[in-house]
Amino acid sequence: MNERYDEFRRRDREALAGAGPERVQKQHDAGKLTARERVHELLDPGTFQEFDRFVVHRCNNFGMERKKIPGDGVITGHGRIDGREVMLYSQDFTVFGGSLSETYAQKICKVMDTAVRNGVPIIGLNDSGGARIQEGVVSLGGYAEIFLRNTLASGVVPQLTAIMGPCAGGAVYSPAITDFVAMVRDTSYMFITGPEVIRNVTHEEVTKEQLGGATTHAAVSGVAHFATDDDRSCLALLRRLFSYLPSNNLEEPPHEDTDDPVDRQDKRLDSLIPENSNQPYDMKKLLGMVMDHGEFLEVHEEFARNIIVGFARLGGRAVGVVANQPAHLAGVLDIDSARKGARFVRFCDAFNIPLITFEDVPGFLPGTDQEWRAIISHGAKLLYAFAEATVPKITVITRKAYGGAYCVMASKHIRADLNLAYPTAEIAVMGPEGAVSILYRREFAASENPQEARERRADEYRRRFANPYDAAERGFVDEVIEPHRTRQRLIVGLDLLRNKRVSNPPKKHGNIPL
Ligand code: HXC
Repeated sequence: MNERYDEFRRRDREALAGAGPERVQKQHDAGKLTARERVHELLDPGTFQEFDRFVVHRCNNFGMERKKIPGDGVITGHGRIDGREVMLYSQDFTVFGGSLSETYAQKICKVMDTAVRNGVPIIGLNDSGGARIQEGVVSLGGYAEIFLRNTLASGVVPQLTAIMGPCAGGAVYSPAITDFVAMVRDTSYMFITGPEVIRNVTHEEVTKEQLGGATTHAAVSGVAHFATDDDRSCLALLRRLFSYLPSNNLEEPPHEDTDDPVDRQDKRLDSLIPENSNQPYDMKKLLGMVMDHGEFLEVHEEFARNIIVGFARLGGRAVGVVANQPAHLAGVLDIDSARKGARFVRFCDAFNIPLITFEDVPGFLPGTDQEWRAIISHGAKLLYAFAEATVPKITVITRKAYGGAYCVMASKHIRADLNLAYPTAEIAVMGPEGAVSILYRREFAASENPQEARERRADEYRRRFANPYDAAERGFVDEVIEPHRTRQRLIVGLDLLRNKRVSNPPKKHGNIPL
């Protein structure tokens, strides 16, 4: 009997040793944790339960039959974050460069299937040289099996990805389908084709970091939602993000008791919006004054900064925030901000997270660049996302709500539940200067003092439209509130909407303008 146990212990030790101390040292020297260290850092202590520790590959090409390492380059299983179940996989770069074999893919698929069957979120920690070259098409097939599962799990359980090393070629498409991608600065990169191929094909010179590092994807492409400084801060961020998310589409997000009073009023809000409506202010200050303890987990912080999206809590309840940012490009909507907002809105709607919209938007960004790159289709994504969303939707118009952007930003007409406006709100087809130059073009041309005429007409227009009352008289705005009441009003509104039940017409799926 003892022999049996001895064999088990020997096999177990072998599996835990992985590719050996030298490769582990190399991983550490590169500033990275090992796959197993990452798992333990991410999960509540002592909660990790491993699957498939003894799995090995089945490849007999290029002498691979003599090189087998238990686990085969990926650690899979489940554990807990803040006491809640999560399924995960962690790619082990020390074993065959973390490259993906047939059996490795099967391990990941097992985790994903278990997650979907049981309504448990999936976290993937990526650090891999891509398809295992010795396995050829079998490895490619393994990737495709994972992509299929990412797609089917989308909207059923949250899927989070951390990129903590290489992620290249078609391998990038698994993270791309998942809901959130976090990258580590300097040690991770993602691209379809690397610097060498680019040099040969387009003769561009670019480093890996410039091409597909964390900063690039967080600020320029928007592929990454978060850029973090090192492995530990990346894993801490995943834990924080997880705290706002329900485990699946049939659950509510976790409630966290708060000692921040629900009726707390912040008088500083009453002077936040400048008198001059062309003057910027920082919408993040508003969020800091309204949300529980001023906490806000910003998503896509560096990308399309003219719109802000992220998670916060109101009276302990998790909410998704979408807010125009007048401090950046006057809060205008453009292609990137529409894409960013739309994907976030759809995530919140899929996972029962109420949407709070703060609106101060002068309209859509004019110009050939935007028009030729399809601002029409991209802007429509945000409109579509807000319109189809059935979660509780509350909108606060802080200042400008002009033109099509008024309709798009969770207006009453596209089924927002509660539409509030500050006395500083301006709701009209366009701003005063633009409007009078169209309405009174002939009058100004004939006028002896066109500048004076222009100002007089703009003043007249401002008095008529640059306020919330035309909309409030029609019920498009439910209530005009003083800013210091915002927090209390939102929490009371969320209470009302707690049991909201609205569904869209039955269909296979809609056709969002992608
Ligand atoms: C098999 C691989 C491997 C791979 C790395 N290794 N990538 N083995 N298949 N794809 C092995 C190396 O041979 C080496 O083994 C060990 O992992 C560590 O790799 P190094 O090159 O020594 O490490 P480093 O210098 O840090 O470079 C890492 C790397 C490089 C940049 C990732 O290894 C590399 O370029 N790998 C190939 C990447 C690639 O082109 N993959 C295919 C992409 S296309 P030994 O035993 O010598 O230490 C793709 C398609 C997906 O993935 C398809 C989805 C549809």
